[in-house]
Amino acid sequence: MRSALPLFVTLMLAAPLLAQEAADAVAPENATETGASGFSERAMAALAARDAGDPVTAQDWMVAAANPLAVEAGADVLEAGGTAADAMVAVQAVLGLVEPQSSGLGGGAFLVYYDALRGELTTLDGRETAPLAATPTLFQDETGEPLGFFDAVIGGLSVGTPGTPALMEDSHRRWGRANWQSLLDPAISLADEGFSVSARMADAIANDAERLATFPATAAYFLPDGAPLAEGTLLQNPAYADTLRAMQIHGADAIYEGPIAEGIIDTVRSAEGNPGVLSLRDLAAYRVIERPAVCAAYRGMDVCGMGPPSSGALTVGQILGMVDNFALEGPGNPDDWRLIGDASRLAFADRGRYMADSDFVPMPTEGLVDPAYLEERAQLIEGDRLDPGTALPEVAPGNPTWDHAQLWADDESLEFPSTSHISIVDSYGNVLSMTTTIENGFGSRLMAPGGFLLNNELTDFSFRTHRDGVPIANRLEPGKRPRSSMSPTIVMQDGEPILAIGSPGGSRIIGYVATAIIAHYDWGLDLQDALSLPHAVNRFGTYDLEEGTSAEALAEPLTAMGYEVNIRGLNSGLHAIAITPDGLIGAADPRREGIALGQ
Ligand code: GLY
Repeated sequence: MRSALPLFVTLMLAAPLLAQEAADAVAPENATETGASGFSERAMAALAARDAGDPVTAQDWMVAAANPLAVEAGADVLEAGGTAADAMVAVQAVLGLVEPQSSGLGGGAFLVYYDALRGELTTLDGRETAPLAATPTLFQDETGEPLGFFDAVIGGLSVGTPGTPALMEDSHRRWGRANWQSLLDPAISLADEGFSVSARMADAIANDAERLATFPATAAYFLPDGAPLAEGTLLQNPAYADTLRAMQIHGADAIYEGPIAEGIIDTVRSAEGNPGVLSLRDLAAYRVIERPAVCAAYRGMDVCGMGPPSSGALTVGQILGMVDNFALEGPGNPDDWRLIGDASRLAFADRGRYMADSDFVPMPTEGLVDPAYLEERAQLIEGDRLDPGTALPEVAPGNPTWDHAQLWADDESLEFPSTSHISIVDSYGNVLSMTTTIENGFGSRLMAPGGFLLNNELTDFSFRTHRDGVPIANRLEPGKRPRSSMSPTIVMQDGEPILAIGSPGGSRIIGYVATAIIAHYDWGLDLQDALSLPHAVNRFGTYDLEEGTSAEALAEPLTAMGYEVNIRGLNSGLHAIAITPDGLIGAADPRREGIALGQ
């Protein structure tokens, strides 16, 4: 059944915010060149371009991330001849200040890097790690039942060893050219002098005020005098500036040992009502792990990203690898969404069964993205069926080729959207795609004395250890890294990078990234339109359609096909850069405050 909705694309792109309205939404005070918001004219122009639906173009370098102040810091590094790794350090340091609800020094990240000089693609795993004293039943009550999600999140129990500081340093050591100290200067200045609280940060604080009030240090920063910080407030963070100054001298060691480390451990272990078990030994033992990129074939390209402990590249790769077996028509065609939705459901079934930290559990990593296996799975969608053109009535994990067969039970761990994505291309041709997180919005809600929030990443583990006596691959174990959905991606063609992309959004990250790639390469949307496309995301069967957009028009045909449809906000934060023969093309998700800047 192929019925088109020809107005879909035009409607969904209609009614963009006026450029000035959009800029005001981010920078409520009247922002002129480095005015109250601190945004330069080029950042304001990039915001305007994004909201007019235009991609940004450049020849030499480009950076796209979730906040204009962070993008500016990265752009200055690139303009001065820094590499993508250098720029990432500056961007991450500022994001930790101006978008503290999403990522920072207390969190973890995955990075995919194309090293132009060596012609090599690799990945760095800076994921948080379970404390050595954590037991598999950490998130169960005395009767062995899983804790309520937020009972586990809020406090010290959910805090894993942070990986982001080590990842920043490791990337700089491998690929940096700029002086390390200088890369932290922009964030230090903003933390000392203050920055304008953005609309998004103010909303996030107001919506979470009750939980942020749990701990005095967190409340003092986000709820001064008991009231949520308002948009436009000039906010300083002297403790964060001091932490970065310590990192200028000692590198990432400043976080993993000494007084800042002691402050982290004290905060976690003395969290009232929910103390955790993280120790100085865990911090001292933390290591970034280099891992080979996981790539899947799609329309003659290789879509490459972060393998286990992330499920990102495998699940994005499975969706695209199944869709590769079908001809798609366009985003207005509900049947395209059926094919994508059922491919996604099949991929999520495999994700729930097989994917976890492969340093702890055997995993059929190669088998999961083997084109022959994905063709077989695609046959379930379009093969000989009694009811063609309808949603698959049942979806179960498959049997990928595996040297190491082991029975796992399905995992149902929850992930909520916060997180942030950074894409960078430098003037040397290096390409970086990094997704960075403290997990839930504001993480564990614990503010370390060093002026940054601590993650709640351990709640990305399954709270249950077994199902019907069968172990769950993503169960918590000491020293293990929780399964992630983060999907920092670099698309390769003929051995060369052609796109860097990624998004926040919990386990919906996978759908956001896969659909944006389909929208750009299969449906032919330009990069900004591909990111702005209203979302339709299917993980476990229910089709989530983005509220208030023309995606709602899919409700009727998808319901008729047999899907349960759920209309809701779908808050992606895609940032992408395409590397084309004519130059660089950048785009930022209009659902967040980010921009792409280039030269
Ligand atoms: N905590 C979000 C993720 O890692 O997928």
